[in-house]
Amino acid sequence: MTEIKQIEEKENGICFFEMKNDNIRVITTNLGCHILSIFTKDRAGQEADILLGFENVEDCEKDGSYMGALVGRVANRIADAKFQLNGETYELAANNGKNHLHGGLHGWNQKLFQYEQLEDGIRFCYVSPDMEEGYPGSVFLKVSYRLKEEGLEMEYEAVSDQDTILNITNHPYFNLSGGQDKIYHHQLRMKADQIACVDENCCANGEFLDVAGTPFDFRDFHEIGERIHEDHEQIRHAGGYDHSYLVSETLDQAVLYDPKSGRKLTVSTTLPCIQVYTANFLAGGCNGKHGKPYENRDGVALEAQFLPNSIHIEKEPRVILRKGEQYHAVTSYRFEVE
Ligand code: BGC
Repeated sequence: MTEIKQIEEKENGICFFEMKNDNIRVITTNLGCHILSIFTKDRAGQEADILLGFENVEDCEKDGSYMGALVGRVANRIADAKFQLNGETYELAANNGKNHLHGGLHGWNQKLFQYEQLEDGIRFCYVSPDMEEGYPGSVFLKVSYRLKEEGLEMEYEAVSDQDTILNITNHPYFNLSGGQDKIYHHQLRMKADQIACVDENCCANGEFLDVAGTPFDFRDFHEIGERIHEDHEQIRHAGGYDHSYLVSETLDQAVLYDPKSGRKLTVSTTLPCIQVYTANFLAGGCNGKHGKPYENRDGVALEAQFLPNSIHIEKEPRVILRKGEQYHAVTSYRFEVE
């Protein structure tokens, strides 16, 4: 039985919701559609929170971690914080060195959404005005989180009144041990033969790497820590894994497994890439749930999205959303015990 309820409402309009069934309990909020907690059981039936998150979600305004956040309008980096569309140049905030990151200074992670309760979840709605953070077009956005028997499904729907660019994701960092250990012994499998290479600023540079024979090969299960310190240019640029995997199939493209607790997470998405980010720069942020900042490698983020920096790389950038066209993407996170 799925139970959806509002558990708190603050004076400033920030609300908190709980969605639960026999297997999973999820806490979310209308502030930036953050997923704040995901509780699942381990092999012994013990419940733990397997998601990293803020002690106080309002800290998202001054934090660069995007823990559990909805990211938009455009996830990841846009080189040189500008792009061209229909012959116009659009200047964006350079909020990550010279590049633009995760929607800018006040991205969708910081916006307060309207909400409605669904039978099996919550739908958040937001109208992003024309030129918000420098992006053209008013975008009408719906984000629906639904609790399924074994997991959480995220659906993104959007339409713009002008041609624009859009690459929406959620940015959940997982630690399937419930924070007992770092993620080095988590095993990862990615259905992907290639990654998008990055430059020394972690910006996708238009080159692609065949994973075969490299520390990026997760076509079979490998521990995250096994090759994370290898002397490979791409590992050096990112200080670990922080790369978009070009996923090759339509289901179960990423699997994360913690042998100790038995928790297994499977990601399925309609999107073409999954960013694997091993929290290389997480340290020194705002307080996490245990009343202190997290450290690097306390979690691993798996973010389904279009190709980062697509507008500068792809001949026909899939991030372009034409006026009146429907944007639709679904990503689901399934939790099991083995
Ligand atoms: C990016 C990282 C960035 C992190 C937090 C990830 O999606 O790939 O490079 O540090 O988000 O902002």
